[in-house]
Amino acid sequence: MEVKKQNERRLVLFPAAYQGHMTPMMHLATLLHSNGFSITIIQARYNSVNPTTYPHFTFHFLDDGIPENTVPAPNDYTDILSVLNTNCLEPFTECLGEILKTSCISCLIADPMWDFTASVADSYKLPRMVLRTGSVSTVVVYEYLQVFKHKGYFPLQESRSDEPMLEFPPFKVGDLPPEVQHELIETIVKETKNSQGLICNTFEELELYSIAKARKALSIPIFPIGPLHKYSPASAPSIWTQDQTSISWLNTQAPKSVLYVSFGSLAAISEDEFQEIAWGLANSRLPFLWVVRPGLSEGSKATDLLPEGYLDIVQGRGHIVKWAPQLDVLSHPAVGGFWTHCGWNSTLESICEGVPMLCLPCFADQDMNARHVTDGWKIGIRMGKGMKRDEIERVIRKLMAEKEGEEMRSRVTTLKEKASLCLTKGGSSYKSLESLISYLLSF
Ligand code: UDX
Repeated sequence: MEVKKQNERRLVLFPAAYQGHMTPMMHLATLLHSNGFSITIIQARYNSVNPTTYPHFTFHFLDDGIPENTVPAPNDYTDILSVLNTNCLEPFTECLGEILKTSCISCLIADPMWDFTASVADSYKLPRMVLRTGSVSTVVVYEYLQVFKHKGYFPLQESRSDEPMLEFPPFKVGDLPPEVQHELIETIVKETKNSQGLICNTFEELELYSIAKARKALSIPIFPIGPLHKYSPASAPSIWTQDQTSISWLNTQAPKSVLYVSFGSLAAISEDEFQEIAWGLANSRLPFLWVVRPGLSEGSKATDLLPEGYLDIVQGRGHIVKWAPQLDVLSHPAVGGFWTHCGWNSTLESICEGVPMLCLPCFADQDMNARHVTDGWKIGIRMGKGMKRDEIERVIRKLMAEKEGEEMRSRVTTLKEKASLCLTKGGSSYKSLESLISYLLSF
């Protein structure tokens, strides 16, 4: 993008310590750096990115009190988050104060999962924006959570889960975040509302209706500038080593023949689900690349749950890795489908490569993302929790080898083109980025 280089202005970015949050923040940092800003990253030591990957940025680390090599499961990631919020307040305040002694900071850009950046920025009279790493639809749903409570949607009842939310299609009542997440959501809403602006990893053509709703609901400027990873795919951070045999193996497969299977960095499935997935994949007799990361099935090491003799049975058509170079995998010509947990990054990355999805949402915003994929954009098929191997095999074949999957592929290809166009000169995200840069320069 040809936006003029600006006089040096320093931005401080403060990502949350999770892969799905770190990735878009580092893409944003790279993007703003390429538009003339100097970048300082403050990060907790837990899950931190390797500074040597970003030689142009200045890094500061916060001592967070989390033991090294802690791997969270979804049910304890909020516990870790609350420890991080408690332990990082003081070091963050000090760190920012030290930076301010020697540099002028134009703006702090923080992840709103941190619950103290509003008060700390205020105490230094520092402008602050937030990056929301999920969809804009979640911005709206979280904002209206109190309204939904008054409407009686909570506590969520199984019997109402299929009831359409007429005020916010295509969502259904069962897609709403369960009560255990509400405290965190209240923090996110508070930290967002008090900020001077909201940067979003989405684009107008994808979430037109939700972006309009968000603009109505919030009285701060909103900048949908995504998909962020498309500006700088090479600068994606990775908290685990990416297994490059994923690509050499894909090179041996036919075009659009492989189902890529990955449930992101946090989601965990039960041992039974793991077994059914393993046999569903094997019995489909279609090629697959499966990311089995440590902790995918609660308490397990990477592959110790694979059925005996499994690797021999699937030899040649099944490849299993602990962590994959996902962007390269999704853009590989051999990949024809993505079985995903519908984390927002994975969902966007799949759309950007024109890959239709099988959706197995596990927690957080994933039910809402999956609803968009299946009922909104119609580019994927929902996998039910606790699906058995025969059903899994049937649905895999539907996506990979039948007409329904072909139609989804064609629709997601159209979205892929829109995702690409919005970044070009005059496109929606291009213009939004220009506005964001002017806004940052106005501080
Ligand atoms: C979390 C939440 O689960 C998600 O719902 C929320 O929107 C963001 O935070 P995560 O579960 O890790 O993130 O999923 P996702 O958002 O999809 O992010 C995973 C990232 O890891 C993606 O950018 C993906 O490219 C990368 N990845 C995943 C790899 O690089 N290799 C892999 O093997 C798997």
